[in-house]
Amino acid sequence: MAEIELRHINKHFGPDHVIRDVSLTVKDREFVVFLGPSGCGKTTTLRAIAGLEEIDEGDILLDGRPIQGLRAADRDIAFVFQNYALYPHFTVYENLAFPLRAVGTARDALDSTVRSVGKSLGITHLLNARPSALSGGDMQRVAIGRALVRRPKALLLDEPIGSLDAKLRETMRVELKRLHFENGSTSIYVTHDQVEAMSLADRIVVMNDGVLQQVGTPTEVYLYPANLFVAQFIGSPVMNIASATIRSDGGQASVTLDDASFDMPADLLGMLDKKRAAPALSLGVRPEGVLVSHTDQPGYRPAEVHLIQPYGGFDIVDLRFGSKTLRARTSSGYVDRIGARVFARIAPSQTHFFDTQSGASLDLRLGD
Ligand SMILES: Nc1ncnc2c1ncn2[C@@H]1O[C@H](COP(=O)(O)OP(=O)(O)OP(=O)(O)O)[C@@H](O)[C@H]1O
Ligand SMILES: [Mg+2]
Repeated sequence: MAEIELRHINKHFGPDHVIRDVSLTVKDREFVVFLGPSGCGKTTTLRAIAGLEEIDEGDILLDGRPIQGLRAADRDIAFVFQNYALYPHFTVYENLAFPLRAVGTARDALDSTVRSVGKSLGITHLLNARPSALSGGDMQRVAIGRALVRRPKALLLDEPIGSLDAKLRETMRVELKRLHFENGSTSIYVTHDQVEAMSLADRIVVMNDGVLQQVGTPTEVYLYPANLFVAQFIGSPVMNIASATIRSDGGQASVTLDDASFDMPADLLGMLDKKRAAPALSLGVRPEGVLVSHTDQPGYRPAEVHLIQPYGGFDIVDLRFGSKTLRARTSSGYVDRIGARVFARIAPSQTHFFDTQSGASLDLRLGD
């Protein structure tokens, strides 16, 4: 059992307020990913939980007990750093055994733990090798193994695969997921890579400027971003955002982006009224919510193809509606030339409305 709770954590570095009133509960056996841009406070938060950094205000609890008074070594929380510092003159076996020797583990127990962790990480054949003979991926496996041998209550990982190449990162991602599935230790994983976050997390914690922006499952943060920051940080290519004017014309609602107008369900107006929507609204729609057709159909508007980016499995196509450009996702090759005339509409069910000033989502759920 290991539940980590943060209650109103605040931390300053000199005049910089780098963690701002952060509260969060990471449930037992949960895999939580901290995601946010460089400098937003991910590492500092993680180090505070591990006891490597003091906080100015708030409480950190492990299984309901405050742990700020405990030294890092007494918290039973393991930390994997991006720059895995293995002992170069030790073999892999000795690197894995080191944390166990440090606490006086008996030889048989030590040996069986090292071998079983080595096996689960697929590095049994490397136990006698020295770090200089290992690939980057294997070094990182050893670093993770070294964190696991003590069977910590919780595992904190700070961009553990950030320095590996893209292909290896993908392999390690799958391994980390499997390892968590087998071991089930409560884990907090830091990254600024949204693909990594989406694929690994039970829940993603999106941070910006020391503030938690949204906490939710990968699907929740993707489908229902809480604000403009989350909407634009998650998803690639980025969500289209445009300032929107909503109109009603004989019971038909429409949204105008610059000079391009798109139909919306009639109940949009009632929903906006109920939310007392601010005067300035922004519309957000991901490329897959911009639907493209070669033929004119009800609700579709003419557009000119401005750019085509093939991604292999699909294309990303920039469409010009008068002075407005929207990015659409199509099946690959659907639009075959720049300058072509096509028709497009915005899928209301994939449309988000935000208060432009505060950035907060109005959380309207429209049907198509
Ligand atoms: N020891 C320190 N002294 C002063 N400022 C610090 C210290 N450590 C971090 N900071 C500052 O605190 C802020 C948060 O840093 P932190 O390392 O937690 O960000 P991060 O989200 O982990 O970023 P990255 O993705 O680049 O690793 C940054 O503005 C950073 O410059
Ligand atoms: Mg960091």
